[in-house]
Amino acid sequence: MLVSTLSEMQQWSDEVRRSGKTIGVIPTMGYLHDGHRSLIETAARECDLVVTTVFVNPLQFGAGEDFARYPRDLERDIQLAHRAGTHVVFAPSGDDMYPVGYATTVDVGPIGEKFEGAFRPGHFRGVATVVAKLFHLTKPHVAYFGQKDYQQTLVIARLIADLNFDIRLRVLPTVREPDGLAMSSRNVYLQPDDRRKASIIYRTLRAAEQSILDGQRSRQRINAVMYETLASAGDIRIDYAAAARAETLDEPEEFFSGDSVVLLVAVRIGSTRLIDNLLVRVP
Ligand code: PAF
Repeated sequence: MLVSTLSEMQQWSDEVRRSGKTIGVIPTMGYLHDGHRSLIETAARECDLVVTTVFVNPLQFGAGEDFARYPRDLERDIQLAHRAGTHVVFAPSGDDMYPVGYATTVDVGPIGEKFEGAFRPGHFRGVATVVAKLFHLTKPHVAYFGQKDYQQTLVIARLIADLNFDIRLRVLPTVREPDGLAMSSRNVYLQPDDRRKASIIYRTLRAAEQSILDGQRSRQRINAVMYETLASAGDIRIDYAAAARAETLDEPEEFFSGDSVVLLVAVRIGSTRLIDNLLVRVP
């Protein structure tokens, strides 16, 4: 079923909740791929009813970013979402989500200011705002997000905790192409040569992981492994390649045994900006 209006969405969710059934939501910006499919399939196993939202949220794009050219194909999304186990595709309009006079935003503070937040000022305010609205509209018991947008998952966890959303957050592993490239709607932008180059991102993360497993504890040296590996692929612009504490994104001088470390990479290859990450437990 396709739902386009906010009132119909809320009414449906109210009825489902009254009947005692559980709702799982997968917030997306559409142009669905196998990463989304895995979120939907898991939600379909774990919840009675599944809502996939499709909304390219203007609030999370900065000036000069790819809002206008972001890939869109609602018909294809509806088919893929339903085949994977979605009951409702919720695709609201921009005018309904942000009518004239709309003014409220949600700011999750420091966790949204580093890394992606530093390169895309206001991005996480846009994400937190739209996700809060989507939670109110779809009223889920469980919300599903991919680990690929690692910092986003921390932002959503903060949002859920701070605004007392009675929602369980499920973060599922990144789904990858055979050469390791993380699935992303933005991969369609990659020209063939850039697509080949893009496999360096995952190899970089694995190289840094290996250095930690081999005993490297210095954050700067781990970062250097990532910079050097990325540089070996030639023409790639590195926004950041950084090891940080997985829970807080703090950047200590050294990591210690038992620490959970997230390796974060954001690069531009051609005109495409790609991000990826890997979690490593320090042995
Ligand atoms: O991850 C995304 O696709 C978006 O940031 C989200 C969570 C759907 C909010 O627009």
